[in-house]
Amino acid sequence: MASTTATSPLSDRVLTMEESATLRMAQLGREVMAQGHDVISLSLGEPDFDTPDHIKEAAKRALDAGHTKYTPVPGTAELRKAISDKFKRENNLDYAPSQIVVSTGAKQSIANVCFAMLNEGDEVVILAPFWVSYSAMVEVAGGKAVIVGAGIEEDYKVTPEAIAEAITDRTKFILFSSPCNPTGSVYTADELAAISKMLADYPNVYVVSDEIYEHINFTGEHASIGTFPEVKDRTITVNGFSKGFAMTGWRLGYLGAPQVIADACNKLQGQNTSGANSIAQHAGAHALNSDLGPTIAMKEAFARRRELIIDGLEKIDGMKVNRPQGAFYIFPDVSAFFGMSDGETTINDADDLAAYLLVKAHVATVTGGAFGAPDCLRISYAASEEQLRQAVDRIAAALKELN
Ligand SMILES: Cc1ncc(COP(=O)(O)O)c(C=O)c1O
Repeated sequence: MASTTATSPLSDRVLTMEESATLRMAQLGREVMAQGHDVISLSLGEPDFDTPDHIKEAAKRALDAGHTKYTPVPGTAELRKAISDKFKRENNLDYAPSQIVVSTGAKQSIANVCFAMLNEGDEVVILAPFWVSYSAMVEVAGGKAVIVGAGIEEDYKVTPEAIAEAITDRTKFILFSSPCNPTGSVYTADELAAISKMLADYPNVYVVSDEIYEHINFTGEHASIGTFPEVKDRTITVNGFSKGFAMTGWRLGYLGAPQVIADACNKLQGQNTSGANSIAQHAGAHALNSDLGPTIAMKEAFARRRELIIDGLEKIDGMKVNRPQGAFYIFPDVSAFFGMSDGETTINDADDLAAYLLVKAHVATVTGGAFGAPDCLRISYAASEEQLRQAVDRIAAALKELN
């Protein structure tokens, strides 16, 4: 007799994979909005600016010139050269065009690295708080995510000693973003130098440095760990166009890597998706070879909004507020509200608080739990100053009702 036990058609890998909390929160926000509420969405990692006109014009020219065919898998020669030049000019990183792989977003670049480098059970040390997709990508590729965290007192920056303690003989690479999503923290050149020095003792451990928020940095200096001699030949630098050029929908990212790793990413991508969108690649090369004026103007707008949101949140009793140096997120510690209630809803954790703020204040944020920091809340300030003012007022009013 046939078994009556229902079996899932899905793989264990997908069944155990976490859904993206940021996308889930955006969906919940849309649902509350569909009920007729005016929701201010501070949950997504997306600049609210439009792509600069000169980049759009370059895309139109590419279309008119008939650049509508498959491109080489790792990207057009023109774009790979522009990226190699950009790495040298802006970051002092040495990656030849052959070491560059262009992908459909930096997300695919990181996924490529995970599939190219990880065997079953290999470990990846992820510096926390971390971007939600890192652990999911490591795990779906068969790796094990080893999370090493730092709290608000350390400005959410992990020390070389803590990283060293997490390294084992199964560690394949360390993975982090600076400027960081979700905290906005920026590792200084000195801090990166110290991590590199520590890694001199672990010659088999690679570094995956996600620098996608490079241009949204309020310190005036972006440092790349791949410039330090101890890790220069074993650093994979990931970057992309989504944040600095407001090009999220164009889906264009890239990495520079040791040749053998770049070749493996090329091979993988050749079987999975082929080259990235050809029009976007033409526009991307133009963006890299052009003046960064519009990018700098966006950064300045983010800097003004950061002041506004810090000022507003700092006035709320119980909010422990960090002072992010980059990206467009603020990551307050909200644990003081745990255990409180408005008489109807009890706040047990940051998940509850994010849900409460959505339902009560109609402001969408994301629980820090999704980023390996269950005491915190991620608030994106990629919204207009007027929206931010309103959001802060609404959050303050809703939190006042908690006792
Ligand atoms: C830290 C970090 N890395 C990578 C990405 C992915 O960017 P892309 O749009 O290029 O796939 C994001 C997007 O939110 C991010 O926050």
